[in-house]
Amino acid sequence: MQSFEVLAEQFSKFFSRRHFPAQPASLYDPNEYFLHQGGKRIRPVLCLMGNEMFDDIKVDAWHVGTSIELFHNFTLIHDDIMDKAPVRRGKETVHEKFGTNTAILAGDVMLVSAYEELNKIGLEFLRPILTLFNKTAKEVCEGQQMDMDFEKMESVSFEAYIKMIELKTSVALAASLQTGAILGGAGERNQHLLYEFGRKLGIAFQVQDDYLDAFGDPAKFGKQMGGDILANKKTFLLIHTLETAAAAKQIELKKLLQSNTADKIEKVQQLYKDCNADKWALQLKQQYLEEALKHLEDIAVLSKRKEPLRSLAHYLIRREY
Ligand code: IPE
Ligand code: IPE
Ligand code: MG
Ligand code: MG
Ligand code: MG
Repeated sequence: MQSFEVLAEQFSKFFSRRHFPAQPASLYDPNEYFLHQGGKRIRPVLCLMGNEMFDDIKVDAWHVGTSIELFHNFTLIHDDIMDKAPVRRGKETVHEKFGTNTAILAGDVMLVSAYEELNKIGLEFLRPILTLFNKTAKEVCEGQQMDMDFEKMESVSFEAYIKMIELKTSVALAASLQTGAILGGAGERNQHLLYEFGRKLGIAFQVQDDYLDAFGDPAKFGKQMGGDILANKKTFLLIHTLETAAAAKQIELKKLLQSNTADKIEKVQQLYKDCNADKWALQLKQQYLEEALKHLEDIAVLSKRKEPLRSLAHYLIRREY
């Protein structure tokens, strides 16, 4: 059983080749630029780990992992357009550097290349994995649309927020694990439990992402600090603060949401802190982590086979970037 660190290192080497042709350079250079900025490579490693929980890692898992990572990077290129994000992984975003039209097309062709990579796997696995992949990809689109719709709404319920982050983020982690389990020959019950582990963990993962956006260390974060605040994203921080603040602070926060002043980020951060929304993140992550780990424990394999995922789960909710 290999750790996240070991598998991430192996996958990064495997993935570091060129993925696109040289010409037209104006289309493919942006893709190569983006893929070589790094990234934690969590999703492909989840696929490898899901496989290794049940059996030796199959060659197909490297193709599926590559496909998943290409898909993830496609979503990031388009997400950065939607979120008007200037920086990712410590570098200029694709649309910022090469223009929005090129970023749209670079993302499109990256999605196609994800399917090309998937098409390399054995026929006995193609149908179930493609079905899961497509279901997940549609859910990500649905979550992304909800995320944007929420920007324009004055308030959003906590339940709606959880549903939105489940769709935009957590199902991709869950599906990555399940594709690995499929390749490893897991039975349906074990596949389902692993998916549920990933779904709960993915929610905690996005909670941490939202926390870092407001309170991360700018030297480590790699993205624009306070981007979610500028875009009026309905994160758990905002929802919690709107729900618990005294009337005067609620009014202040609602006014800030309408404004675009230079001190918006700072002021909203302060209101979050006044309402202990930052501290609530800890509870929220812990709750979803515990739920995730329960599903992991229920999987019918020797406990030691679960160790790498157990420790990855703890890392993911404490990560700093
Ligand atoms: C960023 O995902 C997008 C979210 C779903 C929060 P990651 O944090 O996995 O991004 P990289 O690939 O490591 O840069
Ligand atoms: C993005 O969520 C989820 C997807 C890309 C599908 P965010 O918008 O919070 O991700 P970051 O913070 O830009 O990485
Ligand atoms: Mg974003
Ligand atoms: Mg987004
Ligand atoms: Mg974010």
